[in-house]
Amino acid sequence: MTAFAASAPAKIILCGEHAVVYGQPAIAVPVSSLRVTAQVSPNPAGRAGLYLIASEVMEQVILSANPPYPEDPLALAATLALQHWQLDAPDLTITVKSTIPIASGLGSGAAVTTAVIRALSMALDRPIETTTLNELVYEIEKLHHGTPSGIDNTVIVYEQPVLFVRDHPIERLVIGAPLHVLIGDTGQTALTRVAVGDVRRLYESSSSLIQPILDSIGNLVRESRKAIEHGDAPALGKLMNQNHSYLQQLTVSSPELDFLVTAARNAGALGAKLSGGGRGGNMIALVTPETALSVQSALLKAGAVRVFTTTLKSDPAIT
Ligand code: MEV
Repeated sequence: MTAFAASAPAKIILCGEHAVVYGQPAIAVPVSSLRVTAQVSPNPAGRAGLYLIASEVMEQVILSANPPYPEDPLALAATLALQHWQLDAPDLTITVKSTIPIASGLGSGAAVTTAVIRALSMALDRPIETTTLNELVYEIEKLHHGTPSGIDNTVIVYEQPVLFVRDHPIERLVIGAPLHVLIGDTGQTALTRVAVGDVRRLYESSSSLIQPILDSIGNLVRESRKAIEHGDAPALGKLMNQNHSYLQQLTVSSPELDFLVTAARNAGALGAKLSGGGRGGNMIALVTPETALSVQSALLKAGAVRVFTTTLKSDPAIT
């Protein structure tokens, strides 16, 4: 057997995070330049079992498990996939490498799961439909995150810009003109599960205050869709700024995120907001080719530990 690899991208949420958990629409796009790669190779002679190696953290898991599910994310992904195919653990080594910062709102967990299941599917010659893969990754997201909307697994598995509404068919998003986005990392990790849980408690204790915020986010996502389809970046930028204010009201921003968002706007970004679960992790800034460099250096000066750039364009229809 020769070594081969499968992979999956990062994602950003352009607008609608958190409200999407409550049935509002949200828009997410893949970031194909940041990826998890799962490399499959034969075990060295004499080594039995499925070895899952996360090289960044030198973690090594030997899969033996039946439910109760292993807590380790790699073992969990492999266990669920093997159960799906009703297969025992093969004698193989899967080495996972990633350029996606972890616990920072970029979908690293869903990308790891996707890449590992794709690698196993190839290694075991069990082709997997995209819809089935998406369902499996969603199951694992639920085990990790409690009540995820399903947006992260969907945008990562399909690797397409999507307008996502919980329990509705995926809608393809047409991008009227390329959009230039900077992703600024606060360097602070934050668990989506915690932020989602806190918003849930806020919603349950003060739904008459929170529901109008969620509705307003839904409305601005619908407006954002039109702006994206018409290639109207200035309109989208204003909507992103509004979205950030609503996310602040939902208590999921942080001083560091607010600082980077303000720095980006002051340096000429058309709009800026936190992206993903919040409380740390990443923010995004919509820029033009003319303002990209000045916004990037403003973000670094304001404390971003790194800044990624991505250009959003339309892709072929979702298959
Ligand atoms: C996380 O990327 C997006 C959230 O809306 C959670 C979810 O939709 O599952 C915060």
